Order: sequence, then structure tokens, then C-alpha cells
Amino acid sequence: MKLFEPFTINSKLTVNNHIMMPPVVTRLATTKGEVTDELIDRYVLYGQGGAGIVVTEAVSVKRQKSGQLLRLSEDAFIPGMQQLTERFHGETDSRIAPQIIHFLKIARSGYRQTVNDLTLEEIQEIPELFARAAERARIAGFDGVELHYAHAYTIAYMLSRYNHRKDEYGGSLKKRLLLAEQVVEATRKAVGDDFLLGVRMNGDEFALGGNSLIQGKAIALRLAELGLDYISVSAGGKFEDAIPVEGEALDPYTGYSGHRSMPPKWMPEKVNVYLAAEIKRTINKAGFNTPVITAGRIPTAEVAENVLQNGEADMVAIARPILADPYWPKKYQEGRENEILKCIYCNKCREAEGAFEEVTCFQWNRKDGSTSPPNP
Ligand SMILES: Cc1cc2nc3c(=O)[nH]c(=O)nc-3n(C[C@H](O)[C@H](O)[C@H](O)COP(=O)(O)O)c2cc1C
Repeated sequence: MKLFEPFTINSKLTVNNHIMMPPVVTRLATTKGEVTDELIDRYVLYGQGGAGIVVTEAVSVKRQKSGQLLRLSEDAFIPGMQQLTERFHGETDSRIAPQIIHFLKIARSGYRQTVNDLTLEEIQEIPELFARAAERARIAGFDGVELHYAHAYTIAYMLSRYNHRKDEYGGSLKKRLLLAEQVVEATRKAVGDDFLLGVRMNGDEFALGGNSLIQGKAIALRLAELGLDYISVSAGGKFEDAIPVEGEALDPYTGYSGHRSMPPKWMPEKVNVYLAAEIKRTINKAGFNTPVITAGRIPTAEVAENVLQNGEADMVAIARPILADPYWPKKYQEGRENEILKCIYCNKCREAEGAFEEVTCFQWNRKDGSTSPPNP
């Protein structure tokens, strides 16, 4: 199967197969953004399970309150991250890259900062925040870095049709791309040409008034031109259709757009694959071979192989099925499909994440009250 053959991402980093474990928040970091032994154990498990590359949960580039979310906002976080990469590389033959994120303020009072509220100074400091965090990631021993341009966060909203800024950062798509371009340029300068620098973006926002695949394709093309080493295509995750709950901060994964990010069992298999396929066709036609990665409701190795054989994507990201059984890749490769604890796309993992609780698969719960992942 092509799925299990080695793959070199943009001539820079060879990984053991075409499987990515994309970012999945674990809530195993401390509230100050530090790694814990449990968090390291989790990532080592994903690596041992056989995913070619593991992208970590979103890691904040900025010093700000963020619950249990990792940070690379100061040099003080380097030693902890180094412990993570050392154990990961010592105990697995997979690769690991952090996803780095900038996000806006949101409060239980219902207040939500938008990109339209940011001052010019606040915007102008963002490229350096990404660049310094990426530089720290390289020092800490990661194999690459992924820029988070998807879902509900700052760069995604700058790229979006929801960006109504009147200055050079808003309005037309060309202007909305400016900050994203400046972040790529600053980050590339900080990490060097030989370091894997990927991006995750939305193929479609699936929210009224937001971007569709028309804008998604244009954004991807610009990101390919800027020399990103891969484009990982996600979808949705917007605040605009989120379901408000009194006394709680608005959760961008509660509405339809949010459900497109983490498609539940009532959505079809491969529901977002066409977004990656269209983006791949667009950039290839323009002469770019930037690898395109797809995600969302790809349950089995057969479906993943079919995506690769159809040329719909260059790599396949498998999130909840690898959370359910970190040995999903190895067990398939070794013909042990019947031993896999299969994801049922119930989204209890997502509910835990939204409630700031440790993210596990509910199928790990034993009758005696203990919780543990399935056997290798
Ligand atoms: C609990 C949870 C946390 C997630 N955290 C992130 C994240 O930090 N960054 C990101 O880009 N995607 C995140 N995702 C989305 C996944 O990377 C993936 O795109 C999505 O789950 C669809 O893939 P799947 O159907 O294989 O699970 C998260 C998903 C879940 C379920």
C-alpha cells in the first residue's frame, strides 16, 4: 500500500509513511503552558503507534492565559519541549512538529475580541511572535513547525471574509493575505530554508459570510508561492454559528462549521477530502508540487489508501482514530485490523477538550473505573 511507503515532504523531511497524526489538544499541559510527563507519554505513544509524523496540539506563540495549552512564547519553555523531543526521538522512529498558534481574547462574559478590534501595533507584532516561537521549536529539537491558519484563530480570521478592517490588513483578499504572508516570511527567516515549515488552513469556513473554497484555493496558491513545505487542509470551526451557553465562553466547535472541523458519525466518510483535492489540483496546475494533506472522517487504511490512489491528497491526517487507538497505523500495516479499537466519531474527546478535561477516548474506560489506551 502506498499509505505505508516512506514519503519525503517537499524534499526536506522523510517520514516512514503517508500518515500524519494532526494536532489534537490533550489538555495534559499545565495551565502555565508547560509539558508534563503525561503529555510526553501521550506523544511518545502516538509515535510508537506508527504515524509517520505527529503534529502536536496548538502551542501558543504569545504569553497569555490559555488553560492547559502548550506555549513557546518564551525561552523558558525550551527545556520542557526539549524533554518531549528527546524522549520522542529516543523511543520512536516518527517525526514531530508543533503547531503554533496566535489567538484572540474570549471571555465567559460573552466578550470576544475580533481581528477588526486589533490595533495596528498588535497586528505588527504577530509575525515576530510566530518567528521566535518557531526558532525555539527548532532549538528544542523538533523536526519542523506548522503554522495554524485554520479554524477560529487570528490568522484564519485575518484571511476570512469576516475581516472588515479598513487598513492595509483588511478588505480585499490581497490585503487579508498580508499578515499571513508576513508571518511566513518572518518565520522562514528565523528557522532557515532547510527546516520543515508547513501550514494548516481552511479549505472552506462553512459559515455564512465567511470564506468558501473559492477563497480557500486562492489562499493556498499564495501559500504555495511563499514556499510552505506542506498545506494541511482543514475546514470550519467558526464563532459565527457557535451555540452560546450562558456563563460560558463561546465555543467555535459547537455549530455546523465546528462540526465540519471534526465531522461526527452522521456525516459521510471523507467529507472534507474534496477541499484538499481541489486545492491540490489548483496549486499543481499552477506548477507547485507542495504536498497537500487532508483530514476528516477517514476511518480506515482502505479509505486512506483510496485518497492517495485517487491523487486527492499527498498525505492523510488521521486524528480521532489514532487517539482511539494510537497503534492504528502499525496494526493496519501488520494486518491486525481486527485488533484496532475503532473510533466511532462520537466526539466525546472533543467534548472533554471543550470542558478543559484530559482528552482521552471514552472507549478506554474500563469497568473497574480505570482508563487506559488499548494494547500495542
Ligand atoms: C479533541 C480535539 C482537539 C483538536 N485540536 C486541534 C488543534 O489544536 N489544532 C488543529 O488544527 N486541529 C485540532 N483538531 C482537529 C483535528 O486535527 C482533525 O482535523 C479533526 O479531528 C478531523 O480529523 P479526524 O476525523 O481524523 O478526527 C482537534 C480535534 C479534536 C477531536
